[in-house]
Amino acid sequence: MTNTLLKIRARLTRWLVPASLKPLSSKFGFDRGTPIDRYWIEKFLNQNSSLIRGRTLEITDAKYTKKFGGERVTRSDVLDINPKNKKANIHGDLRSLSQIKSGTYDCIILTHVLGLIDDFSAAAAECFRILKPGGALLFTSSCLGPILNEKVYWRFTPHSVKYIFGKYFKSKNMVIETFGNVLAGQAFWLGMAQEDLNPSQLSHNDPRFPVIVTMRAVK
Ligand SMILES: C[S@@+](CC[C@H](N)C(=O)[O-])C[C@H]1O[C@@H](n2cnc3c(N)ncnc32)[C@H](O)[C@@H]1O
Repeated sequence: MTNTLLKIRARLTRWLVPASLKPLSSKFGFDRGTPIDRYWIEKFLNQNSSLIRGRTLEITDAKYTKKFGGERVTRSDVLDINPKNKKANIHGDLRSLSQIKSGTYDCIILTHVLGLIDDFSAAAAECFRILKPGGALLFTSSCLGPILNEKVYWRFTPHSVKYIFGKYFKSKNMVIETFGNVLAGQAFWLGMAQEDLNPSQLSHNDPRFPVIVTMRAVK
């Protein structure tokens, strides 16, 4: 390419790519609408909703248990390490849940929590232990994203998820996928919301540019 063409391309690129050093939102897009990563989290939970049944455990609140489990759920527990969280009926640490008996749950919904836990290995072992045989772990985590208010230790990839949980679950019982694409990934960084994109921009899946990683694992 000649120098002139390179210069024209650089000008066009500067015009196309946002030049601001400030994000559009510092709240994952909550102040503009619904955060982009929630589109894929909910898509994954919807695809696996038949596994949300019986006795369930979710972290922070029971939002997804109610939305995707509905009538199938017979008892819903909410866990949080934060003692101030009134929505939680179990205050405890996923790294060591001695107050929960082995084989208690039919389903654990673990969305976007593992990256906040220093000893993710201990948390993975506890999830496996407290699941009933035949119970399911529905897991999501960020592959990329801004670090805004919580202490983030880790980002995960399909290989790291397989490595961490493969110590406990049989590989034939694990389905690991990613969601995202280059455009939606940039939009997520920038703080855009789902409402800023059109459905095809959100639903297009390019495994080379994942934003979240998901796993369905059955004990
Ligand atoms: C970003 S929220 C994610 C969970 C939420 N259900 C969601 O989908 O967004 C992270 C939650 O994990 C909790 N948490 C962090 N470390 C924990 C641990 N070791 N054990 C239990 N809960 C923990 C935090 O207090 C917070 O409520």
